[in-house]
Amino acid sequence: MTDPGDEGASTSGSSSFLGQHLEIDTDSAYGDDSESVLSAFTSAMSAATDYRYENGRRYHAYDDGAYYLPNDEDELDRLDLQHEMWKMVLKGALYMSPIPDSVQSVLDVGCGTGVWSIQFAEEHPGAQVIGTDLSPVQPSFVPPNCSFLVDNAEKEWAFDQKFDFVHVRMLCMGMHSWPRFFRQCWENMEPGGWLEVREIMFPWGAAGHGPQDLEQIAKSPLLEWSDLVRQGAAKVGIDTKACLRFEELLRGQGFVNVRRKDVQWPLGIWPKGEEQKKLGAYAVENLKSGLQGISTAVFSRNLGMSREEIEVRLAHARKDLKEGRYYAPIFMYSCQKPDVQKASAEPAFEARTISDAPASGKHSDNGKDQEPESNGRRMPQ
Ligand SMILES: C[S@@+](CC[C@H](N)C(=O)[O-])C[C@H]1O[C@@H](n2cnc3c(N)ncnc32)[C@H](O)[C@@H]1O
Repeated sequence: MTDPGDEGASTSGSSSFLGQHLEIDTDSAYGDDSESVLSAFTSAMSAATDYRYENGRRYHAYDDGAYYLPNDEDELDRLDLQHEMWKMVLKGALYMSPIPDSVQSVLDVGCGTGVWSIQFAEEHPGAQVIGTDLSPVQPSFVPPNCSFLVDNAEKEWAFDQKFDFVHVRMLCMGMHSWPRFFRQCWENMEPGGWLEVREIMFPWGAAGHGPQDLEQIAKSPLLEWSDLVRQGAAKVGIDTKACLRFEELLRGQGFVNVRRKDVQWPLGIWPKGEEQKKLGAYAVENLKSGLQGISTAVFSRNLGMSREEIEVRLAHARKDLKEGRYYAPIFMYSCQKPDVQKASAEPAFEARTISDAPASGKHSDNGKDQEPESNGRRMPQ
């Protein structure tokens, strides 16, 4: 793993790179090694920051090509807006798992701008939070209990600690093997720890139609665009519908207390209700740069489309987005690594989402979360 904060560049002693307590190296096996140290540091950093520029967007450099969305300023602004949308979905909460206040070690895989890691660290000053990503795009001014690493989550993990909460949000366009990923989560978690995974699915859906409705997809440039994202990703072994199978995969790995919540992000202000309208308005804003960011690399690299063809499809999809009643299917899972030392009583599960009925008091988990929601929009089977 490459630490953008640079500690990996220090080769001697226990101090930080800029640190106090520097020891004098009187016995260097390398002779005057300042040049080699500097060059190792420079190449580690440039492996992460020699970005790829393509079709007017900037893409990650570390393990070039592993992920299909850009990492430029437009994308980072979009991710921060999207973070607000996620919070709206959970009524202001950062997570839905019933983690204890004493949570200590937290991993945010594919942390993007780091906004979730930073806010979680602020809310839990007693926890140490590590965010990992292919891109070192996180701010350097962060709470003291928060740090970031450059890492590809699909490679073997090399943490020297175990985590009691692992958070994963919207990694799907960079994930080729979810079973392997869940195995690594399991191996790097404390017994009793929680894993939370929240994903968007492609293709998307329309009011009254499921995202699998091929006839509807053929009629709508936006839904067709979303299905082309699925097709382009599938060419390189990325299954953008894998989130439908997470429950089976998580249970297969051994996780217990698996909870699933299905939510539909309205793309526009067409649904009833103030909160849904606000979410829909944010989604439209998010897709202003999002449609291009999500699809350009996957269309050009994997489907062989020219820039002109992509722009034409985007123009049609944008027009359709304004006129139709569409939604993006979202799947949220929470599960626990069993603690064999402790009897595993089912913990209370109180997460409430934007689509839970108001005035019903606290959400009580009776297994109904898996049921499709019935506000005129069909959920995928
Ligand atoms: C859509 S963004 C979501 C960012 C963040 N989780 C959030 O919800 O705000 C996906 C992030 O995952 C990162 N990513 C994708 N595939 C990855 C992989 N295999 N290993 C590490 N990071 C990955 C990308 O670089 C990007 O920053």
